[in-house]
Amino acid sequence: MATATLGGETDFDGWRKAARAFRLAGVGPADAQFVVAGGASGVQGGLFDLPGSDRPRESGDERIENTFAVPASFVDLAREVILHRAEDRFDLMYRLLWRLRDEPDLIRVVSDRDVADAMERAKTVSRASHKMKAFVRFRQAHDDRGEAWVAWFEPPHRVLEKTAPFFQRRFTTMRWSILTPDGSAFWDGENMRFGPPATRDMAPAEDEIEAFWKTYYASTFNPARLKVKTMQGEMAKTYWKNLPEAALIPELVAASSVRTEAMVATPAPSPNARFARAVAPDLHAARPDAQAVPESLAEVAEGVKACRRCPLYRDATQGVCGEGPKQARLMIVGEQPGDQEDLAGRPFVGPAGAVLDVALEEAGIDRADVYVTNAVKHFKHEPRGKRRLHKTPDAGEVQACRWWLDAERRLLKPKVVLALGATAGLAVLGRKPAVMRERGAPLALTDGGTAMLTVHPSYLLRLPDPAAKAQARRLFIDDLATVRALMG
Ligand code: URA
Repeated sequence: MATATLGGETDFDGWRKAARAFRLAGVGPADAQFVVAGGASGVQGGLFDLPGSDRPRESGDERIENTFAVPASFVDLAREVILHRAEDRFDLMYRLLWRLRDEPDLIRVVSDRDVADAMERAKTVSRASHKMKAFVRFRQAHDDRGEAWVAWFEPPHRVLEKTAPFFQRRFTTMRWSILTPDGSAFWDGENMRFGPPATRDMAPAEDEIEAFWKTYYASTFNPARLKVKTMQGEMAKTYWKNLPEAALIPELVAASSVRTEAMVATPAPSPNARFARAVAPDLHAARPDAQAVPESLAEVAEGVKACRRCPLYRDATQGVCGEGPKQARLMIVGEQPGDQEDLAGRPFVGPAGAVLDVALEEAGIDRADVYVTNAVKHFKHEPRGKRRLHKTPDAGEVQACRWWLDAERRLLKPKVVLALGATAGLAVLGRKPAVMRERGAPLALTDGGTAMLTVHPSYLLRLPDPAAKAQARRLFIDDLATVRALMG
């Protein structure tokens, strides 16, 4: 019996190297065995024990490569199948490799039992990866570097390393970890690392975002489309225990017939199809084409208009995206559009915008050179007679809308980001700031830029005492002058 010891359960390179060596040495499938070394996953390259021959040298591997080429489709298939939990996956793929030399078209013979088996396993692995994209839920945590996001997930197959790049693309500016019983993935904003297996108690159980997920799921749940069987197929019960919103499912199902009647009279919104996937990732990410990260400011603007990431879109006239030149060195972030911005579809065009414009001018900054945006893109308000009164967005709404602000920051890469008030500070820094204490001082951002905090211009509008107002205005302009100096 020839034995190859692989570096870990997902050591594809090790298996490939060993399998080629076995094939070249004429070791038949019945005489080849692949075992996984205890622990140390991620060690690349197998160790071989070939009967009657030495361990192949690196140069021997070249010769194998030259004398026995396998189709790329086989390599792709093997890469997927090896992530399956079935114990015999290495043997199955070696059996196929063994047969490939005499049957070069074997991979296309879908009626062949080994081929069909391998294809089915690859499909199962692919499905597990898509489910992971849909059902991972990050929870807020803090360490000495500030905010971080941690998720606990139990994938049915070993898809962590395959799927982690999806989360890297989606949550590029956040620090996050995904912990699983097979291993862990860590993203620090720049680098991805993989670590050892984890246990559920290493991840936080609850946080304030939990309530957001529940609100969000309840608001996007469409009772008229309720198909219990389909839903259970997509969202298998094994996933429910780690999904905060799953607690609502029995209640929503029970209430669905009543809500369906109420919905009949309500016209359905028609969001842009591409961005519907980006803005409701938990419902749509199970599809393979779900990675619609905006690639231009025009795409951000289009996406904001169609946004359903939180319930605020329902009462607003429209989503209000940021505006300004792509090469702006300064980004100013406000809280959310006000009444006039909501109607005009442009940021800071109402009374607070007028205060900002004059102060910018006095500080020597041309607004035409600035990209002006908001932490939250829809107007949150409550009716008071004929008026719509501003309501401060909550942490869940700010978090949901960071998808857009982060995209704007990634695309513009401004040298300085000025946050106006506490809500903007939360969105930019990822923590609740003490505005009065921290204002006016440069704060380093993980993307290499500099942030600064100051008060919101509507704070100046609200101050009743003229002397206090004049003094607050002077300090505001001083802060803007500091910003101008930071812009270089
Ligand atoms: N206040 C804000 O924070 N943003 C606007 O766009 C308008 C008022």
